[in-house]
Order: sequence, then structure tokens, then C-alpha cells
Amino acid sequence: MSQIEILVGSTLGGTEYVAEAAQALLEEAFFDTDMHLEPDLNEMSLQEEQIWLVFLSTHGAGDYPENFKDFMEQLQSVNAPLDGVRYALVGIGDSSYDTFCEAAKNFDYILEEMGAQRIGERLEIDVVDHAMPEDRMADWIPLLIEDLNELID
Ligand SMILES: Cc1cc2nc3c(=O)[nH]c(=O)nc-3n(C[C@H](O)[C@H](O)[C@H](O)COP(=O)(O)O)c2cc1C
Repeated sequence: MSQIEILVGSTLGGTEYVAEAAQALLEEAFFDTDMHLEPDLNEMSLQEEQIWLVFLSTHGAGDYPENFKDFMEQLQSVNAPLDGVRYALVGIGDSSYDTFCEAAKNFDYILEEMGAQRIGERLEIDVVDHAMPEDRMADWIPLLIEDLNELID
């Protein structure tokens, strides 16, 4: 399971940009990655062990981005536990909303309930504090790389 599946939920494109910057850093660190800008569970073989790196913004009143909604429906119709899935999660949101990073929080809860195991802590990037969220991601990614190296070795 050495490939990292990068899943992106983004409406306005900002989160996609951060995910692409993360992909470049992971590839520099010699990880194989596959980017999913329209995540589709049918493209992921849940029978095999997998590592997901998920970048998720929040829209509406704490809702998932449009391009992520079908994926959430697909997930909720899976009957088997997701115990082969290890995931790292980055939420991007705006703390002036009461529902700050709510999509990432919900996603984290749902995956955990389904038996997937999170790698490290969920990162929440507040665009109020970080006008360049990719810089906050770049500060964090060495921690993820450390965890991934332990997991993959
Ligand atoms: C219409 C709208 C609704 C939003 N709702 C929320 C929200 O409920 N919670 C939150 O944390 N951020 C919210 N945001 C902020 C976005 O998550 C933030 O701007 C993010 O960077 C957008 O990422 P994207 O460009 O990938 O879509 C909202 C932004 C817009 C434009």
C-alpha cells in the first residue's frame, strides 16, 4: 500500500491548489500518488489496504463541496467496514462561520465509525489566519511524511 490516494473536495479551487502542492511535496519525498479531483469509490479497490490523504473544504451551512457529495453517498452505501483504509485529513475553512471545517469534522467521524484509521491528527486550516493555506500545509507535511514512512516500512 505504498501509493497515496489524494482525494479532494473543493468548490472554488483553493483546496485543489493546496492538494496539488502537497502532491508535489510527497512526490519529492518519493511517494507515489494518485489525485482524485472527482472522487469515485468505484475507482478505489476497498478490498486492498489503502492510504487516503483527503483535502476537504466546507461550503453551504457546513456542507460538503459539490464534487464530494456523490462520494459521500457512495461511502454511506458501503456495507463492509473500511478497516483497510488509513487516512490523513486536512480541512480548509473559514472560522467566521459557526460551521468551521464542519465537512472535514463530519468526514472524520464517518470514516472512523466505518472502521478506517486516521493517521496523525486532523489538520484544520483557517483561511482567516492563513491567506496562503498551502504554506500551513507545507509546515505540516513533514509530520505526515514521518507517519507515512513508519506505516509503509
Ligand atoms: C458560500 C460559502 C460558504 C462557506 N461555508 C463555510 C462553512 O460553513 N464553514 C467553513 O469553515 N468555511 C466555509 N466557507 C469557507 C470556505 O471553506 C473557504 O473559503 C475555502 O477556502 C474554500 O475552499 P475551495 O476554494 O476549495 O472551495 C464558505 C465559503 C463560501 C464561499
